[in-house]
Amino acid sequence: MPGSDAGGEPYRFLRTTETETAPAPDIDTSKPHAARIYDYWLGGKHNYAADREVAEQFLKTLPKTLLGARVNRRFLIDSVRWLAQEAGIRQFIDIGSGLPTQQNVHEVAQEITEDARVVYVDNDPLVLVHADALLTADDRTIVINADLRDPQRILDDPAVRNLIDFSQPVALLMVAVLHFIHDDKVAYDSVKTLCDALPSGSYVAIAHMLTEEGREDIDTAVKLYSKASTPIVARTREQIARFFDRLTPIGPGMVHVADWSLGDADFHRRGRPGDAVMPIDDPSLLADIALMCGIARIDR
Ligand SMILES: C[S@@+](CC[C@H](N)C(=O)[O-])C[C@H]1O[C@@H](n2cnc3c(N)ncnc32)[C@H](O)[C@@H]1O
Repeated sequence: MPGSDAGGEPYRFLRTTETETAPAPDIDTSKPHAARIYDYWLGGKHNYAADREVAEQFLKTLPKTLLGARVNRRFLIDSVRWLAQEAGIRQFIDIGSGLPTQQNVHEVAQEITEDARVVYVDNDPLVLVHADALLTADDRTIVINADLRDPQRILDDPAVRNLIDFSQPVALLMVAVLHFIHDDKVAYDSVKTLCDALPSGSYVAIAHMLTEEGREDIDTAVKLYSKASTPIVARTREQIARFFDRLTPIGPGMVHVADWSLGDADFHRRGRPGDAVMPIDDPSLLADIALMCGIARIDR
């Protein structure tokens, strides 16, 4: 059953694209791209044959990736809700934001608080093409084309400085993006530079692809993906936990996705009517998903 928790091959809710025409002349659709591969796994329509081919090959090695993409998106939605509702955050910087989908960060946050301001950052020009069309309907949401590996460029961007008040708490979202930064030093330094620029009381939410002893399936999938598309790196639990060094963990901190929850707030897996990405009813399904996630606060 498509998109169902019921048996068979779970979460098979893919559909084909309506058009194969590139949305802008400078967009090369012949090469697979991370944003479009992920869009395919989420059941979106901003993907092309080259993306689908890699996405399908990856699925053959790691069939739970469809579920993983959905759980990852669920983590993002739950985090934004918690940050807006429980932590009182009004400013979000979403790096590696991906292609617009249902329940984008600004929609989730502004549903809770109309004055939420959101900066989307992605280094894929296609994201900008689609984001420009979909996200600029209000003056509290902007999209910039920039790279997480150059965090100062993001911080110095005039549009970002115009929208974000860096004297007030900010939520920094880096969900399923840090595993695209191969070099450990660059990845840790980028996160540190961004955190250092934010005031005390700000938050960081991270989801990251995980590898563990004996998971040859993950290593094979990573190699396959890296050869065909952008290189990715799955990190160990310890390596991923290091992104939260010097930060105050919220709830369980950085943990395997099956163990993540927001405690008393009971946001986890609950969802709300109308949610595009429904919660997972059976957490045991999550056990072998290659994903760590967590939220932490910047306290000085
Ligand atoms: C798997 S998608 C995640 C989308 C969204 N954050 C989510 O979790 O639903 C990863 C996104 O990160 C972007 N990305 C990859 N490397 C990046 C980098 N160095 N700087 C900015 N964005 C990057 C890709 O273009 C893609 O849109």
